[in-house]
Order: sequence, then structure tokens, then C-alpha cells
Amino acid sequence: MKEHGLAQFKWIPDSTRRVLLLFSCLWGVGCFRASEPTGNLNPTTNLAASPELLALGKSSFEKNCAPCHGLQGDGKGPVADRIFPKPRNFVRANYRIVSTWDYQPTDEDIFRTISRGMPGSVMPSWAHLPQKTRWALVHYVKSFARMPFEFGPDHQPKDITDQPSGMIVIPPEPPYTEQAQAHAKQLYSINCASCHGVTAKGDGAQKQEDSEGFPTRPRDLTAGLFKGSPEPREVYKRLMGGLPGSPMPSHPHLYGNDGWDLVHFVRSLSSEEQRQRVEAKHQQIIATRVTQLPAKPEDPLWDSTPAVELSLLPLWWHDQRPEILTVRALHDGNEIAIQLGWTDAAGQNGTTPTQILPASAAIQFALSAKEQPFLVMGDNTVGGQVNLWMWKPGADGQDSASDWTARGFDTLTELSQDSVGLSATTRHEAEAYRVIFRRLLKSKESSRVTFEPGANIPVAFVVWDSGAEDREKAESMTIWQDLRIAP
Ligand code: HEC
Ligand code: HEC
Repeated sequence: MKEHGLAQFKWIPDSTRRVLLLFSCLWGVGCFRASEPTGNLNPTTNLAASPELLALGKSSFEKNCAPCHGLQGDGKGPVADRIFPKPRNFVRANYRIVSTWDYQPTDEDIFRTISRGMPGSVMPSWAHLPQKTRWALVHYVKSFARMPFEFGPDHQPKDITDQPSGMIVIPPEPPYTEQAQAHAKQLYSINCASCHGVTAKGDGAQKQEDSEGFPTRPRDLTAGLFKGSPEPREVYKRLMGGLPGSPMPSHPHLYGNDGWDLVHFVRSLSSEEQRQRVEAKHQQIIATRVTQLPAKPEDPLWDSTPAVELSLLPLWWHDQRPEILTVRALHDGNEIAIQLGWTDAAGQNGTTPTQILPASAAIQFALSAKEQPFLVMGDNTVGGQVNLWMWKPGADGQDSASDWTARGFDTLTELSQDSVGLSATTRHEAEAYRVIFRRLLKSKESSRVTFEPGANIPVAFVVWDSGAEDREKAESMTIWQDLRIAP
């Protein structure tokens, strides 16, 4: 089973795990100032709802989730208009990721989805939040539901007419023999090809709607995108239970070996690498100290600087989007240089021949190292302010770098150019951008970030590609990452 952080060491006692976590912080892998294990996708405990937990859930939800899901949990937060697929409506509670035959999620299902996020949408991963906060969120989002969550007794289907209920109990996994492969292809063409297409690229029945009336599409199964984990046992549950609220039906008649043959077939359509690329992970970027910063984007010093690859989440899902952002960082004790790299078919002046939409990019820093503000432009709580650096290609080949601050969605304010000397240089070659931001390490102003050697700074990235219909729909972002300034 694929997990992040220390959850894989389940056999280690908790006290030892905390010490290990501390060490892993020092090594710089997946640490977030927490007093309990974070980072794992699967829960190691199950915390029942209590007034205290619901209060914690409410405060975390209002800061981290309400901008998308709405204060009332109806999926109509202020950001919702700008994103597609749309945020879940927790009042109607059509949860997609379920482990039951009753079209209902278990608490663990919701916990895992919150932890991992939903690749294929902008639903971020919240694995960095302490387990307790994630349990609090599970109970708080459940509390919005109009109808109670009810499960029938555990009953697995015996034949085509038998109505199953309760937990989906996964039968033993058979080997994927040549015979099983041929059988899976047959099952696929009968049960799945009408929607997912003969090629499995999602090119079957196109005009589909979800239960809220929003357009949706059968998944391109060759893209390696699993909203509910690509792990074989999870895929089994998706095929059996369906994705409630979407056109993806449940398939109780395929329970048993047929289901497993199809799981193997579906997974054979994508590679492990594709499946890994779409996982939004919290990583550390180290700004290494050098004696002299490279003057140009093509300086070989950049190639020898370690790169961190970050998964980009498009706000408005489109096929021609950049998937990965590569980040490198260096400093010389006086200035910092951060290099961003991504593929974009745009030309030298930032636009494709058929489009007038320029590509651009931004880096967002949290101003308080103790807080992770709301991901899209911060929030108005203490420590919620962010500083953004924006790059735009100029029509005449002159790049522009601008400095901004925000305390929440729609509060973006430009800062005057001053002594910190923010600049950006670019190179566009072989359909790939390399943009380098450069600035003095220190600033005396509270709305600009300061980079103290030895400090860790929450950082996130935004890219607007030139392949989308309009600028709003061109935006892709990463989740919060950790930028460490080497001493
Ligand atoms: C930037 C917008 C955004 C933010 C912030 C966000 N979500 Fe979501 N969330 C989404 C979208 C979009 C979906 C639906 C994705 C889909 O159906 O493909 C979703 C789906 C979900 C689901 C549904 C899972 C299922 O099985 O259907 C849960 C639960 C959820 N979010 C919880 C949270 C919690 C808790 C937070 C805050 C800690 C949060 N979300 C923050 C956008 C967001
Ligand atoms: C009626 C149309 C329809 C049929 C039939 C159908 N699917 Fe789907 N399937 C969908 C749609 C639509 C989605 C995407 C739902 C979403 O993203 O919210 C989907 C999603 C999926 C996913 C992604 C699960 C995840 O974790 O994200 C898999 C895997 C899948 N289908 C496999 C199959 C297989 C195998 C069959 C046949 C046994 C099948 N589907 C039959 C419409 C269909």
C-alpha cells in the first residue's frame, strides 16, 4: 500500500515514531511542526465525533475548505465559480469515493479523500494537517448532510439478482493470467466501452451530467488518474460501488474474479509513473548556498542544482495543461534566485500562434512561517497574509516581475517596486519555460517575505498556461510546499 511519511512504519511505537518524525524534520522530509504524526494518508486511529472535535473541525473548515465548499457546505464558496469539476455539496452528500454497496462513504473513506485530495480536480491534499484535525474535518463535513448516513447489513452479491449492502468485502486476488486478460477485455467491451470508449481514452458517450447537473465526462483510463487512489483494492471498490453522484455505475454483477480481472486490466492501461505524477505531495525545496548566483537561465549551475518536481492542479480541468512544475532554488547570502520550469507550447512572446493568451507564473509565500494561509491568496486570519511574485512576458521580449500581497481571495494589492529589487528572466525553448525570479533575501516591510538563512518558509506556485480558453481557466497551482533557506 502506498503511503507517505512514517505511516508505513506502523509497527513502530508512537513515542519512537515521534522521535523519528523529529529526525525526518531535520533531514527535511515531510515535517510540519506537528506534535503527532502527519503526512500519512490512512488513519492510524479512529476518533469519534465530540463537541470538542466538531469545534476544531468548524474552525479548520472555515479557513481551509469554505472558500471552495461554502460556509454552509453547499459547494458554493466564493472560489467555486472559478473551478471545475465543482466542489462537493456536503448537504446533498453524494460522495464519490465509497467502500460500501449503499452509495455512502465510511468515515475512513472521507478521511482518506481529505488526506490525499482528488487528483483530476483541484481538491488539494490535506495530509500535512494533524490526524486529529482531519478527523475533526470528517465529522464536521458529515454534519452538513441533509440525510443521515445509513448502512445496510454486510451482504455480498451471490448472483446477478442479489441486492448487496453494507461494506464491500474484497474477495481474494486471483493471478492475471493470459486467459484472465482476454476475459477482462470482453467484460470491458460489454460493461465499460459505451462510456470509456473502445480505446479507453474516455471517448465513449460524451455529454454526461453529475447529480448536481454539472457536465462531466467518462475518465480517460489511460491517463493514470484515480480520484480514489490507484491502489488495486481501492480500484476494486470503485468498480463495485461506482462513483455515486457521477454517471459511473456500481457493478455488483461483476463481484468476484470478474471484478479483479477488470481492476488488473484498468491498471494495465496506465503506468506507475503516470499514477505518481498526479499525486499532490508536500515536499521540501532547499535553496542551496553558493558563492555566486547564476546570471542567466542557461547557466550550467542550474543543471547541477537539485530539482523538486511538483504536481500542478488545474483550477479548470483541460487536456492541454502543464502537469509538472520543476523548482530549483539558490542563494548567496545576499540574494535568492528561484527557477521554475514547465512545458507550454507557447512561443517566444508567450503566446501560441493561434492564441492571444500569454503564459505567466507566480510564487506565493506565507508571511508567517507558523501558518499555512488559505491556498488561493491567503486569508484574513492572523498569519493569513501572503506575498506573491508574478512574472509576465512582455510583448517586446521584456519580462515583467511584480510584487503583490493578499489577505484572501479578491484582496490582491500590488506593492510598489522598491529596494528589494525583484526581477524575472525567462527562456522558452523546446516548448518549455524556464523563469528565474531574483530578489534580495531581506526586506524591512511586513508585506514582503524575508528569507533568513536557516528558515523554512511555506511556498506555493501558480502557472497560467497558454493552452486554455481564457485566463481564468488557464490557472494551475501546487499545494503548499516548504522552502528551506540553507544556513
Ligand atoms: C480549491 C478548492 C477546494 C478546497 C480548498 C477544498 N476542496 Fe474539497 N473538493 C474540491 C473539489 C473540486 C471537489 C470535487 C472533486 C471531484 O468531484 O472531482 C472536492 C471534494 C471533496 C470531498 C468529497 C469526497 C468524495 O468522496 O466525493 C471532500 C470530503 C472534501 N472535498 C473535503 C474537503 C475539506 C475537508 C477541505 C478543507 C480541509 C477541502 N475539501 C478543501 C475542492 C476543494
Ligand atoms: C454510464 C457511463 C459509465 C460506465 C458504463 C462506466 N463508467 Fe467508469 N466512469 C464514468 C465516469 C463519468 C467517470 C468519472 C466520474 C468522475 O470523475 O466524477 C468514471 C470513472 C471511472 C474510474 C475512475 C475511478 C477513480 O478512482 O477516479 C474507473 C477506474 C472506471 N470508471 C472504470 C470503469 C469500468 C472498468 C467500467 C466497466 C465495468 C466502467 N467504468 C463503466 C462513466 C462510466
